[in-house]
Amino acid sequence: MSEHERHQSKGMVPFHRPSIGEEEIAEVVDTLRSGWLTTGPKVARFQREFAAAIGARHALAVSSATAALHLALEAVGVTAGDEVIVPTYTFTATGEIVTYLGARPVLADCRADTLNIDVTTIERHLSSRTKAIIPVNIAGQVCDMEPILELARTRGLAVIEDAAHALPATYKGRPIGTIGDLTAFSFYATKTITTGEGGMVTTNRDDHAARVKSMSLHGLSGDAWNRYAAQGRWYYEVTDFGFKYNMTDVAAALGLQQLQRMAEFQRRREQIASRYGEAFGELETCFVPRDVGLGMHAWHLYILEVNPPALRIDRNDVIERLRQRGVATSVHFIPLHLQPVYQRVCGYRQGQFPMAEAAYARAISLPIYPAMTDADVDCVIDAVRATLRESRR
Ligand SMILES: Cc1ncc(COP(=O)(O)O)c(C=O)c1O
Repeated sequence: MSEHERHQSKGMVPFHRPSIGEEEIAEVVDTLRSGWLTTGPKVARFQREFAAAIGARHALAVSSATAALHLALEAVGVTAGDEVIVPTYTFTATGEIVTYLGARPVLADCRADTLNIDVTTIERHLSSRTKAIIPVNIAGQVCDMEPILELARTRGLAVIEDAAHALPATYKGRPIGTIGDLTAFSFYATKTITTGEGGMVTTNRDDHAARVKSMSLHGLSGDAWNRYAAQGRWYYEVTDFGFKYNMTDVAAALGLQQLQRMAEFQRRREQIASRYGEAFGELETCFVPRDVGLGMHAWHLYILEVNPPALRIDRNDVIERLRQRGVATSVHFIPLHLQPVYQRVCGYRQGQFPMAEAAYARAISLPIYPAMTDADVDCVIDAVRATLRESRR
């Protein structure tokens, strides 16, 4: 019995289930049979097709979005003593990579409607040491980028987009991945397309692309994967102390097939979001996520917020009751400033970012993924409505 069948037989809707079809399996098997397991022709093809799909000049495949963010920040020259503005309402990857370079993550609060940072929340934290800003497109909804880019231009700052949630979102008609100086995507198992573990850096700048490419493979010069090809050259130079962040051809094989289905996956996610919106939009006991209409939403997450004054139980109890009704949920995010390491090392404390704290206390991420059946969606709707109804004040 597969994991999916086990969940179904128990009437459970898991929080996520990847959509891996026969095409993905065949492409991986083809890779295994080719004898080329690590970075090779499939990675090269995945990069080309990804760049073409979003209209970016360069796409560089790496082992995760964390690696992508690290390389992007390194490429714009962030170094020890610099400050980088990061939302507190995000996953720790966005903040931790700043510390890899000896720089300091400076946290910013989010907006109540989109949970994203914006130019006003960023401006409060600028200093003479600020070197870069990392806007995160929370849940797959883009930040309002024009004012952020304008601020960055006037202050000489780099903009690295954390688009771990945001493939294939758009901003005012432009695909994400073509807007900030560099953009980082994630292909982690739960993301909108997956390679198991994996990530991509996109940029329109040749110098940034060259730097990312070299530093993702030990700081080697030139076309490193070519080194192993039949007619490849054996000589290489190590021009810097780099990292080991390259993607494997096995992962790229999955990515090539998932990329073909990206638009279909987005449509299904949007459909599910719209069913949830219809089912919960009128309830006083919760708030549905707001699409502010800046472009296409990738709907990686559906963050429902409970309305505490309207309920006799808190968010954690709602999660537990949903679990008892067979619906697995999650919470995105525990703000970074509430985490022990950000408090101990960076001096943050509870109470500093009221919007993020309020959102965190209310947030429940509901299942939203293309492998959900209509019956799964009904099951989530029924469980949420029943739980909120029985818990009304
Ligand atoms: C906002 C955000 N950025 C970065 C990451 C890191 O992605 P990866 O697991 O591919 O390193 C995540 C992972 O969930 C994330 O949610």
